[in-house]
Amino acid sequence: MNVFDELEGKKSVFKDRRFLDHRFLPDKLPHREEQIRAIAKYWVEALKGVTPPDITIYGKTGTGKTAVAKFAMKQLNEASKNSNVNVRTEYIRCTDYTTEYQVLARLCQQFGKDVPYRGWTKAEVINTFRSLFKKNVFGQDLILIVVLDEIDILLKNDGDGLLYTLTRTDNVSILSISNYVDFKKFIKPRVRSSLRDREIVFPPYAAPQLVDILNERSKLSFNDGVLEDDVIPLCAALAAREEGDARYALDLLRTAGEIADEQGSDVVKGEFVREAKEYIEHNKVTDIIMTLPSQQQRVLEAILYLTKRGEEITSGRLYEVYKKISQGDFVSYRRIFDFVNELELLGLISTNTVSKGRGKGRTNIIKLQCDTSVLENALWM
Ligand SMILES: Nc1ncnc2c1ncn2[C@@H]1O[C@H](COP(=O)(O)OP(=O)(O)OP(=O)(O)O)[C@@H](O)[C@H]1O
Ligand SMILES: [Mg+2]
Repeated sequence: MNVFDELEGKKSVFKDRRFLDHRFLPDKLPHREEQIRAIAKYWVEALKGVTPPDITIYGKTGTGKTAVAKFAMKQLNEASKNSNVNVRTEYIRCTDYTTEYQVLARLCQQFGKDVPYRGWTKAEVINTFRSLFKKNVFGQDLILIVVLDEIDILLKNDGDGLLYTLTRTDNVSILSISNYVDFKKFIKPRVRSSLRDREIVFPPYAAPQLVDILNERSKLSFNDGVLEDDVIPLCAALAAREEGDARYALDLLRTAGEIADEQGSDVVKGEFVREAKEYIEHNKVTDIIMTLPSQQQRVLEAILYLTKRGEEITSGRLYEVYKKISQGDFVSYRRIFDFVNELELLGLISTNTVSKGRGKGRTNIIKLQCDTSVLENALWM
């Protein structure tokens, strides 16, 4: 038997796992009707030939910001097909296009203008972008709605120049999406005054709302009757604790299904959800460790070594071991403190200041906060 036939024919609890993928945009977004209507209420202006006001969306991770924005874009595009106005929506993820230049070049390219991603002056790109809004041959005005997802990244990276340019181009409306309420601290007053935006807040999902979301998605992705009754409520409860993150809830559900398949089980059980949680957390820690700079990995290696020997870890002892491991290529004792702080912020270790007894001063005791076997695997992968 061919290995692929075998795998293809393998029985699975999934009907179609694509529907649990992050990139899939469902055509129903339960518990976000209000936010979708709020956007539509402003954007409807575009269908009357008027540039809509700018909008800002805030909310923690996994609260549906990207999904709702894309959903609203799709709906507007459908509605504008039946109208005689020239409305365009463009989605930009600012982790992909991280500077004003890149975003404007991308927008120009979407309109068929051949702007290279480097080499031109900023003024040339801005002029080309603005030329898009000259009346076209039909004398129609173009109205452009730009969705700037994860805008904090761009503002931190490149300042507020992009917002300055866009707010000063007639017929452009911006929808910004941010994880942080205070992202406007990156915007200078001169730009803030022209960004007269309407704000829409996305609250975290509560457990019952996550149940509804998971129910919708599971109908598409799982075979009938394979989910035991406690599976969805458990995924929802665990994700509600993680700040109402729908992405995490979907990850738990998908991973629990994968565990069922791996174990050859016909049904997804509650215990698989708990296993899924462990698995996801394990992977998260592994990712963090593997992407650390190598000097920091060595500090962790030293902490692991001392932990396994059952030694109390003081900064001095840590530096000794770190230096040995580093074999000549090491940083100063002072720099180690920065590393220790960063590792603590990442939640990989904890530190505790203790007094060494009268007159002997104080010292820092470092403790590992993740599983030694996880750390070992990640460091030697
Ligand atoms: N109301 C909802 N109904 C169905 N699926 C949802 C809903 N809200 C979020 N999701 C799904 O949860 C996942 C995360 O949502 P989304 O990417 O929109 O979050 P986000 O707020 O943009 O998060 P981040 O800040 O991390 O970018 C996506 O797969 C999305 O389809
Ligand atoms: Mg998003």
